[in-house]
Amino acid sequence: METSKIPSHVGIIMDGNGRWALLRGEKRSYGHRAGTANVEKITEHAFKLGIKTLSLYAFSSENWARPKEEVDELMRLLETYFKKFLKKVEKEKLRINVMGDTSVLSAKLQKIINKAVETTRANDVGVINIGLNYGGRQEIVYAVNKLLKENKEITVENISENLYSAEFGEPDLIIRTGGEIRLSNFMLYQGAYSELYFTDVLWPDFDEKELDKAIDAFSKRHRRFGKVEES
Ligand code: FPP
Repeated sequence: METSKIPSHVGIIMDGNGRWALLRGEKRSYGHRAGTANVEKITEHAFKLGIKTLSLYAFSSENWARPKEEVDELMRLLETYFKKFLKKVEKEKLRINVMGDTSVLSAKLQKIINKAVETTRANDVGVINIGLNYGGRQEIVYAVNKLLKENKEITVENISENLYSAEFGEPDLIIRTGGEIRLSNFMLYQGAYSELYFTDVLWPDFDEKELDKAIDAFSKRHRRFGKVEES
């Protein structure tokens, strides 16, 4: 694979866990467990390929409307994920960041998240940027309110610079698994010129080969950013 065509920042909407479980006669939470294991696998492969930032949509501001049992299981999985992978992430000099309003999460989960974010802050091999209680519209409102409070002008650049994960820039590529063709409130502002890749493959089945396919499709796109000539 041509390294110049490897996207630096990739966003992933990890959809299809529930259907993957139901197809196997299991509960939806079984799918979320398989989905969490897949996060580990795909993250490893992505950084090996040379991707620098992976933004993963783990829990949207709208996901609270799911049955309590499912929400509780997702929160438990996130706790385990942050605790279990912290050592590995530290060893590999990866950085964990969380974008979204984490203030409503349990005190225990907030503490685990803060530890992961703080202890990996200086790592520079790659960034795992996790959307948690995240919404793209809410993020834009957050940035605008911040500017208003600071008495700053509302401009395109100022909004960009005040988004939750402004320092990681815009995704070059956004992948959505699970067959739906929409963004579902994910990185709406930063995604203005992202290349989009949709696949029917359900998230727990989205393996290394599927990521290679998405990168390959990206490498054939001509990004013009609204201009006529190729960039
Ligand atoms: C969508 O599948 C997936 C989610 C709402 C949760 C995504 C979370 C994970 C993969 C696990 C935790 C993440 C990390 C970063 C450790 P769905 O339940 O909407 O599936 P369906 O469309 O088949 O119902």
